[in-house]
Amino acid sequence: MIKIAVIPGDGIGKEVVAEGLKVLKKIEQLANVSFDFQEYPFGADHYLKTGETLPDWAIEEFRNFDAIYFGAIGDPRVKPGVLEHGILLKLRFSLDLYINLRPVKLYHPRLTPIKGKEKIDMIFVRENTEGLYAGAGGFLRRGTPQEVAIQEMINTRYGVERAVRFAFEYAKKTGRKKVTLVDKANVLTYAHDLWQRVFAEVSNDYPEIETDHYYVDAMAMKMIRSPEIFEVVVTPNMFGDILTDLGAEIVGGLGLAASGNIHPGRVSMFEPVHGSAPDIAGKGIANPLAAILTASLMLEHLGLDKAAHMIEKAVARVIEENKVTPDLGGSLKTNEVGDAVVEALEVLWDEEG
Ligand code: NAD
Ligand code: IPM
Ligand code: MN
Repeated sequence: MIKIAVIPGDGIGKEVVAEGLKVLKKIEQLANVSFDFQEYPFGADHYLKTGETLPDWAIEEFRNFDAIYFGAIGDPRVKPGVLEHGILLKLRFSLDLYINLRPVKLYHPRLTPIKGKEKIDMIFVRENTEGLYAGAGGFLRRGTPQEVAIQEMINTRYGVERAVRFAFEYAKKTGRKKVTLVDKANVLTYAHDLWQRVFAEVSNDYPEIETDHYYVDAMAMKMIRSPEIFEVVVTPNMFGDILTDLGAEIVGGLGLAASGNIHPGRVSMFEPVHGSAPDIAGKGIANPLAAILTASLMLEHLGLDKAAHMIEKAVARVIEENKVTPDLGGSLKTNEVGDAVVEALEVLWDEEG
């Protein structure tokens, strides 16, 4: 029995997680595994009712699960930062989920807005517990004309090294040949000097893997001009956040972007890259494929490789057949796309035997 904590969260988080669960329940039948799903109510409604974001007892409970499947949080009725810090970042930090793994993969050439690109297949390893996200800083003379606001960027040798090492290990494990470091060492001459030194050192342990480097501004340019040249990309927290929305957009948009918040060997948390999308919530048009691909990443992490691979194939199939939501140019509703993936999964599983 595989124990999965489920946090649908807010807005389209709830809508897309329902479709992900539908697919996982089909996997139970096909792959002869069983999942014990336990749902938690954390999110805006719960916060507005109780004042509670994510209590410490829940974090302790999550440690006894095999994985956490998360939708999205964020609500216009709640001040920005309250739920983001109180729930999402608290999960990442308390469980020490130091890797944010975000694939950028083109499932069909028609999905990219970039002319003439056939193959885009890179994966971001975003450092996930430090940098500008560490929450260090404060105000001085807040609310006065002399106000000072400081947000500190934390980079530890330990934190940088484990992220960089993960990137090389991931490349090795998945047969990828190159790891690219993205930083801003030309300006952040202390923080990213550390990144450069650690990257150079760690790369010595992987002589078979090629290395490459871009400053983050040039990377933004290069991801549009030649996205096909990248394989594994390792980068600090904030740059990883920004570049993976860009990455999502060049392969079809946020509706397709999956992610895993990982601490190897411990309970890890899987969520689509997108947020709660208040602009489309409740309309039944959210694309559930990001959440479904996220379920696939989760199963891969849990060692269910065949199931993970088959979900990905089923997603590729529904895209091929244009059984998709309006963001991808289709006319299906969220739940219809979920149904189409389940159907494709059945057919493909049958075909492969
Ligand atoms: P967003 O990702 O929610 O939406 C950005 C745009 O992409 C919107 O136009 C939205 O309609 C579209 N979009 C996103 N996902 C989609 C999908 N599955 N199908 C179709 N269209 C989709 O980002 P935002 O609007 O900047 O943020 C909204 C709220 O979500 C904020 O409160 C923010 O803090 C929060 N947020 C949460 C997470 C998370 O929980 N992991 C991630 C990002 C943003
Ligand atoms: C993401 C989101 C989060 C981040 C926010 C909501 C805290 O944008 O998962 O990409 O910045 O990491
Ligand atoms: Mn983001």
